[in-house]
Amino acid sequence: MDATNQALRWQADQCDALGSPFSGTLLRAAADGELGPLDDLFAAWAGREPASHIRDATPLRLLGALHHLTLTGAAPVLAGLYPDQAPGTDWTALIPAARSALETHRAQVADFMTSPPQTNEVGRSLCLAPGFLIIAARTGLPLSLQEIGASAGLNLRWDRYGYDLGGRRWGDAASPVQLSANWRGAAPARTPPVTVAARAACDQAPLDVNDEATALRLQSYVWADQPARLARLRGAIAIARTTPADLVKADAAVWTESRLAPVEGVASVLFHSVMWQYMPQATQNAVSAAIDAAASAATASAPFAWLRMEPDLSREGFPMAVRLTLWPDGQTLHLANVHPHGAWVDWLGDRAPAP
Ligand SMILES: C[S@@+](CC[C@H](N)C(=O)[O-])C[C@H]1O[C@@H](n2cnc3c(N)ncnc32)[C@H](O)[C@@H]1O
Repeated sequence: MDATNQALRWQADQCDALGSPFSGTLLRAAADGELGPLDDLFAAWAGREPASHIRDATPLRLLGALHHLTLTGAAPVLAGLYPDQAPGTDWTALIPAARSALETHRAQVADFMTSPPQTNEVGRSLCLAPGFLIIAARTGLPLSLQEIGASAGLNLRWDRYGYDLGGRRWGDAASPVQLSANWRGAAPARTPPVTVAARAACDQAPLDVNDEATALRLQSYVWADQPARLARLRGAIAIARTTPADLVKADAAVWTESRLAPVEGVASVLFHSVMWQYMPQATQNAVSAAIDAAASAATASAPFAWLRMEPDLSREGFPMAVRLTLWPDGQTLHLANVHPHGAWVDWLGDRAPAP
């Protein structure tokens, strides 16, 4: 089996395990040759190891390209077999329709596959929200949000969504984005209303969802049999279009160096989700230095917080950990272990000291 097929099969298994049998079926069909010869689409990775395909997410590029053809209206027959656009899936018709769409729209698919997938998972707001609430409750100050690796900045608008946090409602009950999880543990403590004073963010490749083509591309990477994720993404895009935020193209090291200083009368919050691992060591070190500098300048009236949701590589079986450090006292709390998309939350509480 060649490297492309190994990667396609690996990703198919991942999709199955993460609740997308539709994506798993399509990718397995691709690996079995049922979508026709695909060598030209993977030519840039010819001779590479499977790990190289996985690092560059080549199977997800193919999957995204197919979904994109359906969302743009280019492949209406295939769209009629996609679960986000038609009820039920006719599995016997799906594979020939996908093969035909790939043949007809070859140049478009090849072009789509030249860019790496870029996502912005709104479900992560559910994992971060309790941290923001704790910062607001402990400081009694408006929040100045600063996000690195923000993608489209959808989690920067977290306070515009509605939440069920372990049975406790918070946020905008009329928002098109309503987030809930399989919550284990007590609900977070009640908090007073939160004011967001500023929203700023950087990404090395920011996505402007005011641009329809960009918004559609972002939706293409959501697995078609996960309609709830797609619906909340669309709701968050609509909210982002009416909730201003200063999202710029910048490397996290450069951006944090120039702007993390605490400000009198607001709680400055640096946050990030699922981005730390993508920064090279030197960039991580530079961001850490900027955090240290801001932390040492923090006071009770100009506090600084660092909230993050990142893979917890030290703990087997805990895919992601949410941690919060709040200065001037500098205590770190391990708030929760969470599913990568916020499907479940193991809430540890705001009193647990971080190990
Ligand atoms: C997996 S995505 C996560 C996006 C978003 N935080 C979320 O949780 O949905 C990682 C993001 O980090 C960005 N990124 C990676 N390295 C970066 C760097 N050095 N500086 C700024 N952004 C970076 C990528 O462009 C991408 O948008």
